Amino acid sequence: MKYIWILIATLFSFNMPVMAKGNAAEGAAKIAVCAGCHGMDGNSLVPIFPRLSGLGEKYLYMQLKHVQKGERVIASMMGILDASSDQDLWDMAAYFNEKERQLSGSKDITFTGVDDPKDALALGERIYRGGNLRSKVPACTGCHSPSGSGNGPAGYPALGGQHADYIEQQLLAYRNGERDSGNNAKIMQGVAEYLSDGEIKAVANYIAGLN
Ligand code: HEC
Ligand code: HEC
Repeated sequence: MKYIWILIATLFSFNMPVMAKGNAAEGAAKIAVCAGCHGMDGNSLVPIFPRLSGLGEKYLYMQLKHVQKGERVIASMMGILDASSDQDLWDMAAYFNEKERQLSGSKDITFTGVDDPKDALALGERIYRGGNLRSKVPACTGCHSPSGSGNGPAGYPALGGQHADYIEQQLLAYRNGERDSGNNAKIMQGVAEYLSDGEIKAVANYIAGLN
């Protein structure tokens, strides 16, 4: 059933009007409090703090809204957006979206069942570009684009260059239902449902070097 939703979400994500509601220059004055964790330019160097640069204005706004409303619980951001207006959230989203995404880079990894780093990277690429037909995992390219730059107007985030650790944690959180903020999270729960631990490690590592 979830698979149907994934197909529908892919088909309807195109032809959406581009919208820009935030003002990046205004946003610059509002992100001082974020920089310690995410970096001034949204390119955090610490793997547990996601890079925010170029993720997409709509996606960033939606996540900030989820965090503000307590729908996505992030302990280290608790209360931080309580005094922010809707325009503040759009402005911060516009600010970070304008920054250039930098690559974290793929690493030489191995895990149970895969002893050669080359095989791990190849598995990651296969999952990203083709999914896993047998276990009903869709390709990531349909929504996140072949270069990992996402689909801005649809609110589907850019992934390319993101820290592998963060990507892995998010895929695990979708799979176990912990990340459950809104309909878009439901789409990703359907995607992650049949990913194995190894496939998650492999695709996360591949994404870190994708551009
Ligand atoms: C004390 C550290 C800390 C501070 C300060 C902080 N964040 Fe975060 N932020 C995090 C962590 C950790 C996560 C990822 C949580 C998770 O694993 O889901 C996150 C996630 C996010 C996300 C979701 C990213 C994604 O890819 O889905 C956005 C957007 C975000 N932060 C924006 C901000 C903004 C804007 C500010 C300032 C108003 C801010 N953060 C301040 C630690 C911080
Ligand atoms: C049908 C469209 C669709 C497909 C296919 C899809 N995604 Fe997503 N993805 C989304 C949407 C929508 C979101 C935002 C979800 C939310 O708001 O929580 C997302 C979010 C994510 C995130 C969280 C990013 C962040 O910054 O927190 C990761 C990681 C991710 N996707 C990985 C993948 C991988 C890996 C694949 C392929 C195996 C994939 N996605 C396939 C639509 C899709």
